[in-house]
Amino acid sequence: MAGSSTRSDWNPEQYEQFKAQRAQPFWDLIDLVHRGGIERAVDLGCGTGELTAAAADRLGVGHMTGVDNSPAMLERAHRHGRVAVDFVDGDISRWTSDGDHDLVLANAALQWVPDHVGVLERWVAALAPEGQLAVQVPANHDHASHLASVHVAHSEPFASMFGGDPPADPVAVNVLTPEAYATTLHELGLGEPHVRLQVYGHVFASSADVVEWTKGTSLTRFFKRLPPEMHDPFVQAYRDELLARLGEQTPYFYAFKRILMWGRRA
Ligand SMILES: C[S@@+](CC[C@H](N)C(=O)[O-])C[C@H]1O[C@@H](n2cnc3c(N)ncnc32)[C@H](O)[C@@H]1O
Repeated sequence: MAGSSTRSDWNPEQYEQFKAQRAQPFWDLIDLVHRGGIERAVDLGCGTGELTAAAADRLGVGHMTGVDNSPAMLERAHRHGRVAVDFVDGDISRWTSDGDHDLVLANAALQWVPDHVGVLERWVAALAPEGQLAVQVPANHDHASHLASVHVAHSEPFASMFGGDPPADPVAVNVLTPEAYATTLHELGLGEPHVRLQVYGHVFASSADVVEWTKGTSLTRFFKRLPPEMHDPFVQAYRDELLARLGEQTPYFYAFKRILMWGRRA
């Protein structure tokens, strides 16, 4: 996925296994948004659309559009459509608009596309005067949960199946440092940017439960390139490598770094 923005293919059921844990950073991001006067908003990489519609309600948005390019996610999202909320197919890496949005929102989606300075420039161009940008990206590429999958992808038999070129970790390749995002928002003309690194602690019954989490997100890039009969062997090899790194911890505290950023157009 890194280096391009290919059409994504997701499993909404797998992703939603950790719905509560994944929702917390979304609501922390929404808390950064100043209420009032948000007539037109967009949620880029909206996924299943449930949070998109809930955010439209909480912020009193006049009209919210969710954009995603996964047919499976959009099929789910349409269930949350109504007069003030709709969902469309689109590529967030190229998305922009003509200074007519009061809010551009993107939760846990920007990491999937490259060139964040260029992408943020297009998103900021979509803001009306006083328009707000609110974005959250994971920043946990140096955690064992990511490193283990990179290791397995570079090991046989999987390395050969990827033609010696396994898909890179998009978080490692695409996500910038908090200070780089702060500088970028400032240079794009957003006043008083708020950027912070936050660690979310998820308590799982066992360290092995991390496998269920990553199956719904970061492992999807390997599934897209492997034949279906190799998905389970890949997951098993990943599980073995992960537990070799983490040990069998019961319970397990999954410390997950994320970057939250907000800025407002002058
Ligand atoms: C981790 S999910 C987050 C979904 C939602 N924002 C949430 O907070 O639950 C990432 C979403 O980004 C979408 N996505 C990834 N790359 C995309 C692209 N280039 N264009 C549009 N959507 C993309 C995926 O299809 C997926 O639904």
